[in-house]
Amino acid sequence: MDAETSNRTKKPATAARIYDFFLDGLHNFPADREAAAQVVAMMPAAPAMAKANRAFLRRGVRFLAEAGVRQFLDLGSGMPTQGPVHQIAQRIAPDARVVYVDIDPIAVSESQELLAGNDRAMAIHGDMRQPQEVLGHPRVRKMLDFDQPIALLLCAVLHFVPDDDVAYALVDEFRGALAPGSFLLLSHGANEGAQASVSTEEHDQIQRVYGQRTATPAGGRTRDGVARFFGAADLVDPGIVWAPEWRPGPEDPKHFAADPRLSCIWAGIGRLP
Ligand SMILES: C[S@@+](CC[C@H](N)C(=O)[O-])C[C@H]1O[C@@H](n2cnc3c(N)ncnc32)[C@H](O)[C@@H]1O
Repeated sequence: MDAETSNRTKKPATAARIYDFFLDGLHNFPADREAAAQVVAMMPAAPAMAKANRAFLRRGVRFLAEAGVRQFLDLGSGMPTQGPVHQIAQRIAPDARVVYVDIDPIAVSESQELLAGNDRAMAIHGDMRQPQEVLGHPRVRKMLDFDQPIALLLCAVLHFVPDDDVAYALVDEFRGALAPGSFLLLSHGANEGAQASVSTEEHDQIQRVYGQRTATPAGGRTRDGVARFFGAADLVDPGIVWAPEWRPGPEDPKHFAADPRLSCIWAGIGRLP
């Protein structure tokens, strides 16, 4: 097989599986590992950043379940492994219901396999840039009651929507569909962190890895740009901070203790009025 044919027959890399590789997961293919290696060559801390993000997600979901949230809509959910949302929420509240949505069909089918037998957690294939398709999906409507509070999770996914017009409009639309007292949990690649970690040239090269090797180009935002996603939501303490600084727990990775900026991830949770 010549190189061109081999490239064509190889599964292209995806953001979900590159991230899974960074988390030491088993749901990734050679193309994902090659793309991940290119990122790590420029940004050696990339796996630690992914782990810091995932640790924030675990702490955030625990906080939300303890605050009484019983419904979760996780957009750009990736693989439900390494402390997945449904396990954390249902450990605290067995009646918690979780809908996972991802654009990567393989992430979705693996999620469906892992969730088999759990009638309060499900995964659908969907593109969050089409909010009405996700919100109107019959299985989403059956699982979630939009008259009651829902936690909308947008964890490490909005940087895969670099176009501001599209990103802010989609979050407005999802927020607008939620009942008062709902929550928004959000984490996002940070331009300020990237500037502290890599050169502009390396940063551009990392963006090219996602732009050329996956279907989801990536681009960070500043803290102000991230704050805009929360709209009128009241931020819960400590506000929008570096991911390792959001209510850190004793079991969390300590990679960025010396300089949390280098986690390159802004994180926060807000409660909708
Ligand atoms: C870095 S992973 C984050 C996974 C998980 N949310 C977490 O924080 O641990 C980003 C995920 O977003 C998904 N994604 C990217 N663009 C998307 C879109 N437009 N709609 C739905 N999912 C998307 C990718 O397939 C990937 O699984």
